[in-house]
Amino acid sequence: MSVAINKADGILVIEFDRADKKNAITAVMYQLMADAIADGERDPEVRALLFQGKPEVFTAGNDLDDFLRTPPKGADSPVYQFMRNLSQASKPVIAAVAGPAVGIGTTMLLHCDLVYAADNARFSMPFTQLGLCPEFASSALLPQMAGYHRAAEKLLLGEAFSAEEALQMGLVNKVLPVGELASYARARALALAALPASSLRITKRLMKSTQVQTLPAVIAEEASHFSAMLTAPEAKEAFTAFFEKRKADFSKFS
Ligand code: COA
Repeated sequence: MSVAINKADGILVIEFDRADKKNAITAVMYQLMADAIADGERDPEVRALLFQGKPEVFTAGNDLDDFLRTPPKGADSPVYQFMRNLSQASKPVIAAVAGPAVGIGTTMLLHCDLVYAADNARFSMPFTQLGLCPEFASSALLPQMAGYHRAAEKLLLGEAFSAEEALQMGLVNKVLPVGELASYARARALALAALPASSLRITKRLMKSTQVQTLPAVIAEEASHFSAMLTAPEAKEAFTAFFEKRKADFSKFS
């Protein structure tokens, strides 16, 4: 299985389950997650959603091989469905992050409500290193959350940063020892599940009301650049270099 989905005690748990490929996300996995969120939204028994990975890795982000073979096209592609359902979820969403959270693995956290990180978590948005640009509103949400200069450092250089730094930036709520992460995040989800669902829904909607109006235009602008860049020579060089286990050479591109 590539994504394990489990519903119990009012919590829908969506777990990345592809450890041999560092939980890199394929189109099939995006579709499974998009459908799971939609199902969780419809099911009155579900009162909170929880994303998690493995103790050693949250996710290596988009599967680069999948990206090369079948770049996502348009608003109906699985990755767009996933991010749309996540960002529009009316129920509270928690993420528990241990190990690397690369690319969309960090971007998706900007759309979650509560984020808990293990002390081994490493966050990165290496879009420029891949010849790409930010997506799904990270170019707007990260500067808003962390301030322009801190966001610029993460988005322009694309280097990984620690759980402690993510905490200072406001990207995570709390850092825990890796062995305590899953039980803590679950306890938070159970606490949410015990509260009146309508209060949670309306509180979340109120907090997100400005975003709902402004983000669609940002996401559309990012997407138009991103999809063009995905098939450009810079990205091809970066992806090929990754699989050839060498450093990418961008010197020939202006
Ligand atoms: N897409 C496809 N395969 C991936 C992948 C990805 N995003 N990330 C890792 N893998 C595969 C590797 O190719 C390798 O496969 P192999 O065993 O068949 O050679 C396997 O997963 C293990 O990866 P490896 O790089 O050896 O693990 P690591 O522990 O040294 O490093 C990461 C872990 C996550 C830091 C590193 O794999 C990485 O940087 N991945 C790419 C992240 C990325 O650029 N994502 C896209 C963002 S848009």
